[in-house]
Amino acid sequence: MKNNGDRVRRLLEETRDKIETALAGDGVVILPPMDVHASARLLDLLGIKAQATIFDPWYNKGVGGERDDYVKYIVNVLDSLEPFSEHLFFWGFPEIIAHFVDKIPEPLALRCWLTWFYKNSPSMIRGWRSAQMTCLHLSKPDAKMHVENFLNEVQLQKLKHGKLRFIPGPPSVIEESLLCGFVGKNEQTGHPSQKPVAVIERVVLMGTARGELVVDLMSGAGTSAVAAYNNERFSIVCDISEEYTAIAEKRLGVHRISLPGPLTARIGETVNGLRAKKFRMPFKNGRLSEEVDISRDQQLTFAMK
Ligand SMILES: C[S@@+](CC[C@H](N)C(=O)[O-])C[C@H]1O[C@@H](n2cnc3c(N)ncnc32)[C@H](O)[C@@H]1O
Repeated sequence: MKNNGDRVRRLLEETRDKIETALAGDGVVILPPMDVHASARLLDLLGIKAQATIFDPWYNKGVGGERDDYVKYIVNVLDSLEPFSEHLFFWGFPEIIAHFVDKIPEPLALRCWLTWFYKNSPSMIRGWRSAQMTCLHLSKPDAKMHVENFLNEVQLQKLKHGKLRFIPGPPSVIEESLLCGFVGKNEQTGHPSQKPVAVIERVVLMGTARGELVVDLMSGAGTSAVAAYNNERFSIVCDISEEYTAIAEKRLGVHRISLPGPLTARIGETVNGLRAKKFRMPFKNGRLSEEVDISRDQQLTFAMK
């Protein structure tokens, strides 16, 4: 009789095949509703590496409720996202994010304190009216910054011919209206804390090249997957809520994949030796020719554990 390790390994291989097939077909994978620690452990065990991870938790007030151990809880989540993330974009209000600047798990380090600035938040309190959100851009020492994604055609041509004296980066303040009232009505899904695609696109472009992978394991309405898809990046998203998973499915036109039950029960066990695979990009929005020749470093990488 086969031992338990073999069985877990087979289940993990099946799961990775399923994820690879879904990515190759749709560009997007929606995992079944799951706690962030479970999905993070799963991706780590499967040997999947994300060039960019989006981390946008509830803010310890309002819809998500309040927890006394919020700082400890978030630090734990950061710890579980770190192993597979090259760039990690951590969102929250500045007064909350400030608590984490000296708690970033190594080898991640703070690259930039980004601000999303909006003017259209309705006034709810007697005090400062919120008009900004913070995103800590964290990354590993060798993570590539894709400043080229922000150049216009003229600058790209100059860069190609070695005539661009310096490469201008995008500003660290992102100006976009909040999805609220009639603003962004076309994008609104009913999720209470949904970010504009244009905001998430900015960090996706800095952290990834075409054909690379974006992961969001607290994905709400699936905004990160939309931002990734629009820019020809793969994505894997997951949320603990059945309701928001259904919203993301509808928005993305993609059904969640199913996972073998015993696997989710056993994702604490370790396995070795999973095969690496490569596949074509499925994006159909016309910006890629049918036969895409993705250079080696643009391949989605399923690194071996
Ligand atoms: C601020 S919202 C994310 C919004 C998202 N960025 C968007 O644009 O739609 C936070 C999300 O985290 C999810 N969440 C909360 N606790 C979670 C957990 N333990 N594991 C996974 N997801 C969780 C919530 O259901 C919620 O959808």
